[in-house]
Amino acid sequence: MKVTVAGAGYVGLVTSACLAEIGHQVTCIDIQQEKITMLQSGRSPFYEPGLESLLEKNMKTKQLQFTTNPHEAYSGAEIIFITVGTPEKHDGSADLKYIHVVSHTIAHYIDQDTIICTKSTVPVGTNELIQHIIESRKPPNLCVEVVANPEFLREGSAIVDFFHGDRIIIGTRQADLTDKIEQLYRPLQIPIFITDIRSAELIKYASNAFLATKISFINEMANICEKIGANIDEVAYGIGQDKRIGPHFLKAGLGYGGSCFPKDTKALVQFGTDRKHQLELLEAVIQINNRQHSLAVKMAQQTIGSLHGKKVALLGLAFKADTDDVRESAALTIAKELLEAGAIVTAYDPIALANAQKILGNEIKYAQDIHKALTGADLVIIATDWEHIKLLPLEMYVTNMSEPIVIDGRNCYSLEAIRRYPITYRSIGRPTIWKEDYLKGTQHDEMD
Ligand code: UGA
Repeated sequence: MKVTVAGAGYVGLVTSACLAEIGHQVTCIDIQQEKITMLQSGRSPFYEPGLESLLEKNMKTKQLQFTTNPHEAYSGAEIIFITVGTPEKHDGSADLKYIHVVSHTIAHYIDQDTIICTKSTVPVGTNELIQHIIESRKPPNLCVEVVANPEFLREGSAIVDFFHGDRIIIGTRQADLTDKIEQLYRPLQIPIFITDIRSAELIKYASNAFLATKISFINEMANICEKIGANIDEVAYGIGQDKRIGPHFLKAGLGYGGSCFPKDTKALVQFGTDRKHQLELLEAVIQINNRQHSLAVKMAQQTIGSLHGKKVALLGLAFKADTDDVRESAALTIAKELLEAGAIVTAYDPIALANAQKILGNEIKYAQDIHKALTGADLVIIATDWEHIKLLPLEMYVTNMSEPIVIDGRNCYSLEAIRRYPITYRSIGRPTIWKEDYLKGTQHDEMD
């Protein structure tokens, strides 16, 4: 099938590469020449496991091509995916300017009947707006049907998610027009749920809002665990055994970040406010998450007092592991709060240093190597659960730091493992381990 993907961002590129991989003829268009030139030379503008090799493979076989030329992209397209960004406006609502631009362009350049699938996360009613824009500007002899087809890809595992998603949502005003889309997705063998457009649009927001709620809920429980001496890992496992709750998305930490949950939860709240409907639960979810982003620095201050002049190693800058994306990352809040408190910060991340530096500038130092970040540090804060950080031999904290105090914002280590070293260790919703307890233990052993 001849498919065009409008927007070479995160969703657009993953969609393009994966659709080409299952045999479709894909053209991906973007208005940014620089990005397209980079892609044409076989490089991805961001890190996503497996993406670059899929792009390379499908460009070689000419299943996939990139262009900035709308005539080339839209003529002959049977299905067009809209994957342009919907960034956050000052009031939290979604900015639809790119949706407007792409809708006008599509209307101008299509030359046959087409189905438009909107993958961008858009507020309820936007697909009707796209239909209206295209309807009123397209050549009168052509039929265009706009359907909502939200994506559920996670950064870091987007390729796997594309091929093994739980469901494909199609929101349409005419269920009998979806044959072509079903045909397009058939090789994936993923269940397809066909519904009305507005419900499909809300399914996307509601999914992200529900997942964000799970995270804020478990973080709320983690904070109470600390007060009462319980362990959130045990609590999460215990509640997750109940099939009605499920074990996923119950990892306590410094809260959610990224380009989706923070933006989509705020957009949904704003969407309600605009309609004089307050989404109280979601407001609390957002508030808890903001509080959680600031928790690590508070813990650091509780542990060593003033951070003024203290050397702090910040491990992890990406909003989660396996991505170089730092948007809304808790690590950025932590870095800013540490600087405000007068700390000297050295940050390490395996791949997100450059992106973080664009935002944080040179007020903090950047270490290419985890050991360099730790050397001489008075305290370490772990903000991202990189496998690399999880696998770090724990004696590194003891031998490299001037004082082995670890604030683990992602619960990377088991308490049993930590107890084998003279480390002061605080994590989220789990008992604190004091270096002194280890030392007392060894003295007992010696006396025995
Ligand atoms: C999220 C959704 O999971 C995708 O389904 C959706 O398609 C995407 O947003 C989007 O709207 O485009 P993503 O933001 O890439 O995907 O990453 P997640 O793996 O969902 O993680 C989001 C945040 O939640 C991260 O900061 C992560 O550290 C945090 N998290 C996740 C927790 O703190 N605890 C958990 O148990 C799970």
